[in-house]
Formats: sequence, C-alpha cells, structure tokens
Amino acid sequence: MDQFDVVVIGGGPGGYVAAIRAAQLGFKTACIDEWKNAAGKPAPGGTCTNVGCIPSKALLQSSEHYDHAMHHFADHGITASGVKMDVAKMLARKDAVVKQNNDGILYLFKKNKVTFFHGRGAFVGAAKDGVYEIAVGESAATSIAAKHVIIATGSNARALPGAAFDEKLILSNDGALRVGEVPKSLGVIGAGVIGLEMGSVWRRLGSDVTVLEGLPTFLGAVDESIAKEALKLFTKQGLKISLGVKVGAIKPGKNNVAVEYTTADGKTENATFDRLIVSIGRTPNTNGLNAEAGGVKLDERGFITVDGDCKTSAPNVWAVGDVVRGPMLAHKAEEEGVAVAERIAGQHPHIDFNCIPWVIYTSPEIAWVGQTEQQLKASGVAYKSGSFPFMANGRARALGNTDGMVKILADAKTDKVLGMHVIGPVASELIAEGVMAMEFGASSEDIARICHAHPTLSEATKEAALAVDKRTLNF
Ligand code: FAD
Ligand code: NAI
Repeated sequence: MDQFDVVVIGGGPGGYVAAIRAAQLGFKTACIDEWKNAAGKPAPGGTCTNVGCIPSKALLQSSEHYDHAMHHFADHGITASGVKMDVAKMLARKDAVVKQNNDGILYLFKKNKVTFFHGRGAFVGAAKDGVYEIAVGESAATSIAAKHVIIATGSNARALPGAAFDEKLILSNDGALRVGEVPKSLGVIGAGVIGLEMGSVWRRLGSDVTVLEGLPTFLGAVDESIAKEALKLFTKQGLKISLGVKVGAIKPGKNNVAVEYTTADGKTENATFDRLIVSIGRTPNTNGLNAEAGGVKLDERGFITVDGDCKTSAPNVWAVGDVVRGPMLAHKAEEEGVAVAERIAGQHPHIDFNCIPWVIYTSPEIAWVGQTEQQLKASGVAYKSGSFPFMANGRARALGNTDGMVKILADAKTDKVLGMHVIGPVASELIAEGVMAMEFGASSEDIARICHAHPTLSEATKEAALAVDKRTLNF
C-alpha cells in the first residue's frame, strides 16, 4: 500500500489547492478525484471548473458579447448586420475553456509532485496506529495509506421534491450549462446566484425568462439599496422576477414543463416553460465517502462537522469547502485548503470570514465584502455611509456602462471600513480594494487619500470613501 503524509479526497478548488500547498510544504501528498469529462477522462477541478464558476463565466462572456453586438454597438457608431448566435460553437468554446483548466490542474499536480488518483476515495475504517486506509476507485481494488486526510468532496444541486433533474427539461446547474438551443421560454426556480447568472445568459440570447423566488425579498443577503437597484435593472432588462411565490406541482411533458405556482397575492398561476432551471441551493456531497467509518461526524443537514480550524471529529482528518459550513464559494474553499495544509505543517494561519468577498456575475455585476447596512442596524453598530454613482464616473461614461454605484460603510467613531458594496461594471474586480482595506483594518479616509488612476472605475471607490466624509469631488 502506498504511504502518504497527506491524502486529499476531492480535486475541486478546496482539494486541489490544499494538495498543492501540502506538497509545497514538503509533505508526500496524493489527491483523489472522481470527476470524468464527456470523453470519460479525468477532469479535476470539481464543480467550479466543470459545471460552476468557469463554464458559467465563459457563457456569461459569450452571451454578453452577443448582447453588445445586438443592442449596444450602435451607440458606438458601429453597425453590425446579420449577427447570429451559434449555440453549439458557444458551448464548444466553453468546453475548451473547461478543458484548459482541467489540464492546468493536472500540470500543477505534476509540477508540485502531487500524486493524482482518478476514482472515488472512501474511508476503509478508523485510523490504525495513526494511519488511515483510503480505498481508491470504484472496485476499491487499490488502497493508499495516509497520516492526514483532507476531505474536499464539495456539493450537489438540491432538487425540488417530486421534480428530479432529468437535465433535459428540468435542469440543475449542469444541464443549464449544456442547453443545445436557445429555449423560447425559460423558467427559473430560485432567484439566487445561479438563477440570476444562468437566467441572464439565456435572456441575453433571446429566451423569455421567468424567475420564481420563494422569499418575499430579493437577494436578502445583499445590501438593501444594492438589491433594490439590481431588481430595478434586471426587470428593465426583461427578466420577469416574481417574489414570495409558492411553487406547486411541476409536470414535465414531452417538450416542455408545466409549473403551477401561487403568487405573493394568492393567485394560482399555471405556466409552461421550454426548460426549467431549479437553483434553490446546494447540498453537501459525502456520497460513497464512508465518512462515518473513518470516525467523521456529519451534522443533521449532511455537512461534515468541523471546528473553526476545519478539524473534523476524527484525529488528523480535516474538511474544507462546500462540504463544511460557511459560504459555498470557490475562493473560500481555496483559503480553507491552504490553511489546513499549513496547520498540518504546524503553522497558524487565520481566515477572516468577514473579509470573504461575494460576487454575482450578472450585468451589471454585484459584489460585496463585510457587513450590509441591514446587518449593522440589526447589531446596533453606529456607522457612516458614502456612495458614488457610476453615472458620475468618467470611465463608466466612456464605457457606456453607467448603471450602479459603489457604497462604503464605515464605523461612525473610528472610521474603520465595515463593508463595501458595488453594483456596476467589473464590480468583481473593484471589490478587491474593499477586501484589502478590510484585511488591513483601513479607514474610509485611508481609501480617500490613496491616489487612484484616472480615468478608472476605481475612482468611484475613492469617491465613495470621500462621500463617507460628505466631500465627494465629482458628484
Ligand atoms: P467541488 O468543487 O464540488 O469539488 C469536489 C470534488 O470532489 C469534485 O470533483 C467531486 O467529483 C469530487 N468528489 C466528491 N466525492 C468524492 C470521493 N468520494 N472521491 C473522490 N472524489 C470525490 N463560486 C465562486 O466563488 N465563484 C463563482 O463564480 C461560482 N460560480 C458557480 C457557478 C455555478 C453554476 C455553481 C454550481 C457553483 C459556483 N460557485 C462559484 C461555487 C463553487 O463552484 C464551489 O463553492 C466550489 O466548487 C467548492 O469547491 P470544493 O472544492 O469544496 O468542491
Ligand atoms: P442560492 O442559495 O444562491 O439561491 C437559492 C434561492 O432559491 C434563494 O433565493 C432561495 O430563497 C430560493 N429558494 C429556495 N427554495 C425555494 C423554493 N422551493 N421555491 C422558490 N425559491 C426557493 O443557491 P443557488 O443559486 O442554487 O446557488 C448555490 C450556491 O452556489 C450559492 O449559494 C453560491 O454559494 C454558489 N454560487 C456562487 C456563484 C458566485 O460566486 N458567483 C455563482 C453560482 C453559485
């Protein structure tokens, strides 16, 4: 049996990054991942690379180009005629981007001397003399031995009861990324991150998109003023968003799906959609891991129970990413993976969950870090707020992309930055400044005093910081 210092089960962003960091720290490391691509070949990278972050952003980019060509080129004096969308080519490009990332991870494993095993990893039992036996592969013919095990087995899409995913008519995130032609009508259940991102892709390509959300509030985790602006903009773009809806029977037919639902004002509606995306959250994945045999406890919702350092109930077994508590984000999984490898090496890394940024890749993008106004109010923290609209930013005007704003929240007494919220162009990149400020314990005055290049979108961040002190220069 091959002996390793560290065996990582799962090769998504949590697992593959943990394996690389463990190897960098001098541990003999293996990573086991079972994902196969359509050709049956190993495809490490997990949900993120195969059916999540990467392919969704590839399609968002393609659909945004199409939308620009159809609706915005004319504003720049460019006439484009005969613009057509070749969905097959768009999907093939997306698949090629995914494969580059799969291959990149295999290359990184080689470079860092991580041994890769393709197949399912499962605990054979509890540790014997401090060593775990991990079975590898479907027939479990091979076993490897490990002193430390890092579980990074990720998550799966949650289905609605009575409406299993067939990936043809009723789609999870997986099927939503493989629709072969633009559906005339698309239903989306759940106005969360996936619903809005995938709804945006297919709307831009011409679908009539209806989003049915169970909660009465739109994007409840987002700062209220940003969520309000987002709802206004998405509705103007043509997304039909219904809040406070109760979804009833879902009946797939031959070519479409019938959905019965009750609206917030109590009306029963019957809608028929060519495709239905169900994006109502994700469940932790411990399928076939045999975690309990290894002494690893799960909570009542199926997440692996961990402490603040990602230690499980079993000695020297750790768990990171979507399979444990906390936000289901690739960068959160990565930070935990690195931190665990460093803890195994005796180091003392720290992750500040309050400084983990969130991004929703709609158009405009939404990004935030830290506390929202509603959270600060609820916890009774006295704060100051400053915001700056992209309408008043020169670069945004030049881009023709003036929707949205940057908002900074700072402590009323100390001026320490408590949160930054952006809706607007490349919010996903702009938010890094807020994360940096918060990690360094910066004040809004610190951001206001930093020289930002002109003309840039980031000047809106500086101006929002100036607005906290009621002294914007350009608005
Ligand atoms: P995963 O990425 O799920 O990887 C787990 C891996 O473990 C998989 O390869 C799985 O096959 C393998 N595995 C499971 N069990 C076993 C076993 N027993 N043996 C061997 N292998 C096993 N997050 C962002 O931060 N930004 C985004 O833009 C973003 N976009 C997303 C878009 C979509 C459509 C979806 C669905 C998710 C998106 N996410 C995004 C979330 C992100 O994908 C996850 O948070 C991230 O992938 C979690 O990483 P992980 O390593 O914990 O698990
Ligand atoms: P989500 O948690 O973001 O949104 C689910 C939505 O469905 C919520 O608004 C919820 O109220 C609603 N809902 C739940 N049950 C419902 C029901 N029965 N009827 C109607 N509405 C219902 O989950 P989503 O979109 O599935 O994404 C899962 C996770 O994947 C996200 O939370 C996020 O962590 C990750 N992700 C991250 C992305 C990013 O970082 N850009 C992109 C996509 C996914």
